[in-house]
Amino acid sequence: MPTIGLIGAGHIGSQLARLAVENGYDVVLSNSRGPETLAPLVAELGPRARAATPAEAAQAGDIVVVTIPLKDYATVPVAPLAGKVVIDTNNYYPQRDGQIPELDDESTTTSELLQRHLPNSKVVKAFNHIYAAQLTTDGKPAGTKNRRALVIAGDDAGAKAEVTRLLDRFGFDTVDAGPLKEGWRIQRDTPGYGPRRNAEELRADLAAARRYHDQQRKAVGN
Ligand SMILES: NC(=O)c1ccc[n+]([C@@H]2O[C@H](COP(=O)([O-])OP(=O)(O)OC[C@H]3O[C@@H](n4cnc5c(N)ncnc54)[C@H](OP(=O)(O)O)[C@@H]3O)[C@@H](O)[C@H]2O)c1
Repeated sequence: MPTIGLIGAGHIGSQLARLAVENGYDVVLSNSRGPETLAPLVAELGPRARAATPAEAAQAGDIVVVTIPLKDYATVPVAPLAGKVVIDTNNYYPQRDGQIPELDDESTTTSELLQRHLPNSKVVKAFNHIYAAQLTTDGKPAGTKNRRALVIAGDDAGAKAEVTRLLDRFGFDTVDAGPLKEGWRIQRDTPGYGPRRNAEELRADLAAARRYHDQQRKAVGN
């Protein structure tokens, strides 16, 4: 079983760690304040979990999840992630992250920012549109009717296949939105962002997504 490294151990990071441990993976968790602050979570997770620095979690993970406030993405260690599949859960909330001009003008997307920061890694966008708590309640075995689906996006087909297998083990179908630049289709304020959807519904949501500037134009009636 691959080891999953986690950079960020908040709402999403801790839930992904629970899900991973439940499914037999080892996890290495990290945050900004230091491994000692993760002792209660590690104790809860048991022998498959340990805490480390972000660089050590990046080094230890076969697959590494970046799940921190987007504004901090440039602090993610680059060298230990070279060649690895990196899952990006991050979303853009200007009230938390400050204004990021190239996201405001929609010339790029959140996961493309991370990919640019990690040029030798294979970034796959995933887990960005499900509430943290639902990660451990909504998974169902493969083949279950109306199974919940989650979107992925990425530029590397092999990395996407690996993340699809991971999602399947975690209890979710996958809908591939295409390359990272299509990740906007599942950003905040799009139809698929948040609600429980099966694969067919999620594909319809991706097709119905509109850019922020188109939503605003519609709102003012032109
Ligand atoms: N909450 C959700 O339901 C949800 C759902 C989907 C996607 N997301 C997205 O996923 C990301 C994480 O969300 P969250 O709700 O899990 O956030 P959160 O609860 O605020 O947790 C953030 C985690 O990141 C750590 N962190 C902050 N800066 C860091 C750095 N520079 N290096 C390493 N670790 C750092 C924090 O550690 P310290 O506490 O030590 O600072 C904390 O463990 C966000 O982009 C969010 O928009 C959230």
